[in-house]
Amino acid sequence: MAAQAILTAGKTDDVLWRFDEGRFNARRFADLSSVAARPRTSVPVPYINKQMTPSNSSISETHDSIRAVQWQGDHLRLLDQRRLPNEEVWIDCRDATEVTQAIRDLAVRGAPAIGIAAAWGVAMAAQQKAPMDIVLAMLRAARPTAVNLMWALDRMKKRIAVGADVDALVREAQAIQDEDLAANRRMGQLGASLITPGSGVLTHCNTGSLATAGYGTALGVIRAGVAAGRIANVYAGETRPWQQGARLTMWELVRDGIPAQLIADSAAAHLMKSGAVQWVIVGADRIAANGDTANKIGTYQLAIAAKYHGVKFMVVAPSSTVDMATGNGEEIEIELRDPAELLSMAGQRTVVQGANAWNPVFDVAPAELIDAIVTERGVIERPNSIAMQAMFGF
Ligand code: MRU
Repeated sequence: MAAQAILTAGKTDDVLWRFDEGRFNARRFADLSSVAARPRTSVPVPYINKQMTPSNSSISETHDSIRAVQWQGDHLRLLDQRRLPNEEVWIDCRDATEVTQAIRDLAVRGAPAIGIAAAWGVAMAAQQKAPMDIVLAMLRAARPTAVNLMWALDRMKKRIAVGADVDALVREAQAIQDEDLAANRRMGQLGASLITPGSGVLTHCNTGSLATAGYGTALGVIRAGVAAGRIANVYAGETRPWQQGARLTMWELVRDGIPAQLIADSAAAHLMKSGAVQWVIVGADRIAANGDTANKIGTYQLAIAAKYHGVKFMVVAPSSTVDMATGNGEEIEIELRDPAELLSMAGQRTVVQGANAWNPVFDVAPAELIDAIVTERGVIERPNSIAMQAMFGF
């Protein structure tokens, strides 16, 4: 595998990291006395990938070879998703501030993956005796929509509250990661069993190994469905503006030997009309108590187009994405990102100077447009509050 670039060392020790909507402007923890003694190198430290994952035949048989979040004993190594597919660059996060920055800047992304990364950030902070309340608040504010982030932090916080020591927190973060991988494998089987052999499917954004502990949610169903011969054709939408479908999903699929075709986002309804797809399969960032589902921007219009064309719509997410404390999709905070993400491509301005943009990066597909929500606990067909309560009620 070609391994490439070296990241230019960023402004590091002088960075002021803002969080919590500007109410708090914290110096990097490197400046806090508890961790100031740690020798610092250029950050993020580049790591040239020699071998992305163990060459294990059982992994390749399941079309699953990527592990993008890797704990290194005292720091967190992340495959930098901003650089794919052109460069496979690893970054080393050496404290919770760097993990927060990696989440916020999309070096690590995808709802389960950011929860896992945050859990490792907490474990690392415990090793460094950093102030836990500040660490938890900073990580929590990194991104607002994916509830897996809050879920993982709450889980770590509960362990801290009962006096867990550093080793116990490391074990908890590892458990969060391991459980996610197991959930994905289970969801793969459950979701694939819903698909009639020979079907075509369309997916959106990236919901694969890059977005999770491994295997993926919606992409896990696609991996399982392809392996079982149920899925004959895979289409992936490019997912403007950040191109998670074009850059990341296609990279994963090519790498793991799953034939697929990229489409422009705007080709989705036309594809559905052609009869080439029987299911749209997507992940989720937060599923409300009535089944309304927040996911990458564009999901809502896919759900509408699917209903119109008689194409089924499947949401695949672990139970850590279910937020029973949020009644419906209206209550979900939708992340707004920098308009510059729309005004440029690959760092190159593509829109006339002076133009403005509105850049919500998630939307909500209402439950009535969803045919099945697949979690590791089981499948809810035609989701509603009652079915959600029966499976996830407290
Ligand atoms: O902004 P991103 O790339 O983090 O958004 C990711 C998505 O919307 C995914 O579809 C979702 O997190 C599910 S990932 C298994």
